[in-house]
Amino acid sequence: MRPIAEHTRDAFAKAEEFVRTFYERKGDPALRHKVGKPRPVILDSGCGTGESTIHIARRFPNIPVIGIDKSGVRLDKAGNPSQTAGENVPENTFWIRAELLDFWRLALDRVKSGEWTIPYHAVYYPNPWPKQSEATRRFHMHPIFPTLLALSEVTELRTNWEIYAREFAEAAKIVYEENARKVEGNDNRGDNGGRFHETHDGTAAVLTAQPRIVCESFDPTAPETAFERKYKDAGQKLWRVVVGRV
Ligand SMILES: C[S@@+](CC[C@H](N)C(=O)[O-])C[C@H]1O[C@@H](n2cnc3c(N)ncnc32)[C@H](O)[C@@H]1O
Repeated sequence: MRPIAEHTRDAFAKAEEFVRTFYERKGDPALRHKVGKPRPVILDSGCGTGESTIHIARRFPNIPVIGIDKSGVRLDKAGNPSQTAGENVPENTFWIRAELLDFWRLALDRVKSGEWTIPYHAVYYPNPWPKQSEATRRFHMHPIFPTLLALSEVTELRTNWEIYAREFAEAAKIVYEENARKVEGNDNRGDNGGRFHETHDGTAAVLTAQPRIVCESFDPTAPETAFERKYKDAGQKLWRVVVGRV
């Protein structure tokens, strides 16, 4: 319910402008915005020094990838030769300083209105908030969590803390079950081709068609973020949760 901070509205407007000009530069009329033809956008939330944003941008060269972080100090390093091994930053990469919780709410508005579609959302190594007294700051225990899950077709969380991964996966399951319960018997389909349902309490829940939730440990051959490298070098086991709609 908190009003969205003005600085994040400004930041979001810059990200939108980048997406618009990216597709215009491509000159592909099929990708220009039309009602019912959302533009694909990828988010790298809490991107830190932005290394992962570059890796993701190389993986999806035709889609704008927006790296978001609230730390100006970290973002100032994004795109530096030290981060990119001297290679050029892909043209589909964009970094913006913003508060994630507000940015996600604005992004969900674009998804629900059919302007954006988010095929992949990276949430790599978020702050774990390990103390019991801070637990509600973990994304999956915060009221923002249903918004986070509703944003994208695939959400990938990475963490070095198994408990965080298992909690995130369990919380995702609960959100989908809760959505299914809320929309039960309510055929009032919302916007965006019916992906969102109106629920009894008036909120829009994402359609629940059997999400695929995978929680597993993994060993990256080439680390893609500064934290991933640090943890791997320290011999720590890394975890990921992939939540995808089937
Ligand atoms: C542990 S670091 C991981 C950075 C990067 N993903 C990596 O793996 O190297 C977490 C990052 O999330 C950012 N962050 C945490 N909460 C945030 C929020 N609410 N809005 C924006 N950025 C946030 C922090 O500034 C920090 O850069």
